[in-house]
Amino acid sequence: MADNNKNPNECPDTGHEWDGIRELTNPPPRWWIIALYLSGLMVFIYFILYPSIPLVNDSTDGLLGWSQIDEYKEGLAEIEAKRAPYENRIAEMSAEEILQDDELLRYAVGSSKVLYGDNCAACHGVGGIPPEGAGYPILADDDWLYGGSVNKIIETLAKGRQGMMPAHADLLTTEEVDGLVGFVISNSMGEATDAQWKLYNEKGCAACHGADAKGVQQLGSANLSDRIWRFSGEPDEIRHTILHGVNDANDPKTRVAVMPAWNEKLAVRIEAEEYGDDPEEYYEGDEIERLTETEIKKLAIYVHQLGGGE
Ligand code: HEC
Ligand code: HEC
Repeated sequence: MADNNKNPNECPDTGHEWDGIRELTNPPPRWWIIALYLSGLMVFIYFILYPSIPLVNDSTDGLLGWSQIDEYKEGLAEIEAKRAPYENRIAEMSAEEILQDDELLRYAVGSSKVLYGDNCAACHGVGGIPPEGAGYPILADDDWLYGGSVNKIIETLAKGRQGMMPAHADLLTTEEVDGLVGFVISNSMGEATDAQWKLYNEKGCAACHGADAKGVQQLGSANLSDRIWRFSGEPDEIRHTILHGVNDANDPKTRVAVMPAWNEKLAVRIEAEEYGDDPEEYYEGDEIERLTETEIKKLAIYVHQLGGGE
């Protein structure tokens, strides 16, 4: 104990003692004191130079006039200035022209990733592959309900889409439903028999899915002749679709399959152009534009590239 002196300077204590530990009156080291005062000085200088004291609606500005929001805005302006030449050309050119221009194409695809992530990935999944069973179409294949040309995709995005397959629960007997499930499965493998085709035609399926059962793009009716499923190739799921349809307001068990509209103004214009009419006459003034035309063009190009470009 004796040679383990905890108080070599014989410094007086403060009179405080806990469990044999005495509090001494040693001053803190000089470097420490200097650092303490310097840091106090720093705070003071910072207070004068930068925005600091909170007021009711605002704060003091500081001598430098710097602010975080200004710095952000400057950075943003710099990025926008770099992007402007590309954005302007994309706005002026048609989507088909952009597909032919390697540089613009790369820019459009690159700058759409965030747009896609913010607006589309929640339903269609990262990279156009939705989680299995989520009920959203895969965008990363070359199988399209409404058409895979870049202009058809623009139309899909602008207008939104809503498939209409009515519920058949009240229209078919159990045997007929069994027969049609059998047809859909056999036909997906190219093995449907004449009797199965007859049932398909008799029950009115051909009216929407086409005489060849390959689907009709104007209606968005699924292709029943391949093994790419809009919903599922499981017999029970096929049965569910036939019995309850999609988006059928009269059937509570119907599948909900609605693609939201992103730019109604553009949708009106596409429609008017198709009929050679003046879109101005069709605008009602309350068209919702959740994405700009340029954003839609870029996204359509991105989706088109995902699908391998049909
Ligand atoms: C709320 C969910 C939802 C969101 C968000 C959504 N979609 Fe869709 N989308 C759907 C559904 C459902 C369909 C299928 C509609 C149908 O079955 O008739 C669809 C269909 C499509 C189609 C047509 C596919 C085909 O085979 O023809 C494209 C292209 C598409 N979406 C792209 C997008 C893009 C790009 C975005 C982002 C701007 C987006 N979607 C946002 C639900 C969504
Ligand atoms: C009024 C038009 C219409 C009629 C009639 C119709 N369908 Fe459909 N069907 C559709 C549409 C549209 C879709 C795609 C729905 C979607 O993607 O939102 C569809 C989807 C399907 C699917 C899902 C395919 C997949 O890939 O998951 C099956 C199966 C199907 N129909 C079978 C039938 C059968 C069998 C009949 C005859 C009893 C029939 N449909 C009658 C319009 C119709």
